[in-house]
Amino acid sequence: MRAFFLYLARKEGFKNFALNFKFFRKTASRFIAGDTLDDAIRVIQHASQRNIRSTLDLLGENTQSRADASRTSEELIRTQGRIHHEEADCNLSVKLTQLGLKLDPEFCEQNLIRIAKYAKDLGAFIRVDMEDSSCTDQTLEIVDRAYGLLGNVGTVIQAYLYRSEQDVTRMNPKGIRIRLVKGAYREPESIAYRRKKDTDANFVKLMKMLLQSGTYPAIATHDASIIRTAKKFAQSKRIPKDAFEFQMLYGIRRDLQHQLAREGYNVRLYIPYGSQWYPYFMRRLAERPANVTFLVRNLFMERRFKEKHDNT
Ligand code: FDA
Repeated sequence: MRAFFLYLARKEGFKNFALNFKFFRKTASRFIAGDTLDDAIRVIQHASQRNIRSTLDLLGENTQSRADASRTSEELIRTQGRIHHEEADCNLSVKLTQLGLKLDPEFCEQNLIRIAKYAKDLGAFIRVDMEDSSCTDQTLEIVDRAYGLLGNVGTVIQAYLYRSEQDVTRMNPKGIRIRLVKGAYREPESIAYRRKKDTDANFVKLMKMLLQSGTYPAIATHDASIIRTAKKFAQSKRIPKDAFEFQMLYGIRRDLQHQLAREGYNVRLYIPYGSQWYPYFMRRLAERPANVTFLVRNLFMERRFKEKHDNT
């Protein structure tokens, strides 16, 4: 099921089909703040009332032209300005393929640096999301250089990749901030763990490394058992609660987000917004079969509604 939805995430044909059906958009809205920045700002404000910080993701990936990548960069700069104006405790999460990585890595790097420089002048941090393994080396190299130049750029490490321990070992001494995730893409067995229990074990191993020697690491998971392990480990090593943060995705385990914030942990919510929701939504479906049931239920409800309407 996971492989199937990750396959569909890359299929333009199915994307066009999905975009034409309201129930897809309706179901996706569980995971997406809305189409506009105003929608996202409302979610940020709501989270902040519960002591939850945010990171904004302007949806979009694999940009097809330099003009689109430049437009997205401008939009991200405007978004950064708006976040500052709203005095929101929020940073930006960006994807390098959104800034033109697949078109021209140097051009992409310049776009990232332009955004990060603007953010730095406002005292803000930029997180570079990690995409599939065809981007890993270039993403880490670009982040490394941008961090060396500006200091306010961090990235993401995926626990399912065998290489990740080496990447953490290399990046920790430099002080680059890392968000640890399990990994959301479809990767071959030659480079990534296939079994959940292996990925989970690697996640815990890397998490302990980051908690002990990372720079304000982000433990990004909804896995309650791993979160319990993180809390216990931090307590046993006397790592203060403000030395790291938990991160979760909008629309998933809100109960756990609120509980952690009430317990005094730093919690950050990843808030996607915009019209390019299709691949992001497909990855969320792939993560949990129950989400597919939810989608199918919406489909039937819409059908029934239409039939009722047609008969009246
Ligand atoms: P796991 O999949 O084991 O789920 C644990 C529990 O969480 C489930 O039992 C369920 O209760 C809940 N849950 C998880 N996913 C759900 C879903 N889709 N719908 C409903 N419930 C769900 N990946 C990546 O490759 N690059 C990146 O840059 C990022 N960035 C990122 C930022 C943040 C803040 C988070 C939280 C995650 C990412 N990810 C990511 C995604 C990550 O790799 C992973 O796919 C998801 O977080 C799901 O894995 P869990 O750690 O939650 O564990």
